[in-house]
Amino acid sequence: MAEKSPGVDKASMSPSARETLADQFGVKGIISEYLIPIETNTIWYTLGGVLGIALVFEILTGFILTWRYIPDAGKAFGITASMLKEPFWSVVLNFHYWAAYLIFALVMIHMMRVLITGGYLRGKQGLWLLGVALAGIVFLLSITGETLHWDERGFAVPWHISELLDAVGLAGVFQYTHPDLKVISIATEKLIPIYAAHVAVLPILLLVVMALHYYVIRVKKISLPFWLSESGRKAPFTEHVRAWLIYGGIILGVVLVISFISRDPGPAPQLLPSSPFFGSKHGPGTLGITPTYPISWTHGMNRLVAILFNLQPDIWGTVIGMVLMLGGVLAVPFVDRAKHEPRGWTEAFNLRQRGWAFFAIGVFWVIMIAGVVTNAVTPIG
Ligand code: HEM
Repeated sequence: MAEKSPGVDKASMSPSARETLADQFGVKGIISEYLIPIETNTIWYTLGGVLGIALVFEILTGFILTWRYIPDAGKAFGITASMLKEPFWSVVLNFHYWAAYLIFALVMIHMMRVLITGGYLRGKQGLWLLGVALAGIVFLLSITGETLHWDERGFAVPWHISELLDAVGLAGVFQYTHPDLKVISIATEKLIPIYAAHVAVLPILLLVVMALHYYVIRVKKISLPFWLSESGRKAPFTEHVRAWLIYGGIILGVVLVISFISRDPGPAPQLLPSSPFFGSKHGPGTLGITPTYPISWTHGMNRLVAILFNLQPDIWGTVIGMVLMLGGVLAVPFVDRAKHEPRGWTEAFNLRQRGWAFFAIGVFWVIMIAGVVTNAVTPIG
């Protein structure tokens, strides 16, 4: 009779191995044994998780892109333009590009959901501020990412940094004048820190602040969707994560399909002889080049201050817009006079209690919409 192998039966080992791992790393406490109200499995309460998943994919595709990309002002555009012609690389680059749009949209929707449900009430103002920091990091990632493409649109970013430094008398100190930027070796020196910010500093900051955001939600407890009646029932957090994965899979699946559609690389930056704008005396704005949607309000605000107040350099439009938008979102949780989270639509929109919070977020949206509309109506300048 064949002797039974002294080896351990795999089927019986796996659950206990899984349990040991979960126990060792304390995962049980944060996933399967962590119970949350069943009502929070609604889509509006899963968008933050979907956002987190989209950000992870953005970081992964960004990492893959670093295998091809070189932050050299003479080569970068050639690299991104040729990647967009190649089957594998075009999908990776397009996914990275369109997912950035998605992330921007999700941040906006998530922020508005949190505002309406008063998710920052009951001593969670700090959580809202962490959210503002996340939105700010996402904005900086969009701007630096747009630069790395290094077409004339990407070139607009150091061009505007130069204007800003010039306005405060520092362009010469940092060798950041417009003529400097047209020298490939000097432009490369400006591109490298932007690359470092986009691939290292900002993603690391994002992951740290995201971890803090999730931690504070765990400790301070989430609000409840007031449009559902409270059942008192709880479900393991794993169910919530499953909802994240389902919605995230669907939304990112759509982004993946869109990524197969070919995209124009745009015109080469004006510092390259191959550019249609080579030797131009004008900046990208005057040449009719506008930013992509998530940051298009910046150029729109530049146009607005130039048209309305003849303010020069027009980059002050972006600065003023940024200060007002930031002031608006930072103020929200401190001017909301509601004592507790709303229990219905009437309380959610009770302007006597929450009017100032809506006013503050209104400032944010007025600037954003004014910038986007101005950018669309009168883009050149
Ligand atoms: C990268 C961006 C962000 C990520 C990954 C993220 C993630 C999350 C997640 C997973 C939740 C749990 C509930 C849900 O999914 O709706 C949440 C809740 C919350 N978030 Fe965010 N968030 C981000 C940005 C923001 C922003 C921009 C704000 C506000 C300015 C914000 C403020 C809050 C608050 C106050 C809560 C608690 C809500 C409640 O108790 O109902 N978050 N966030």
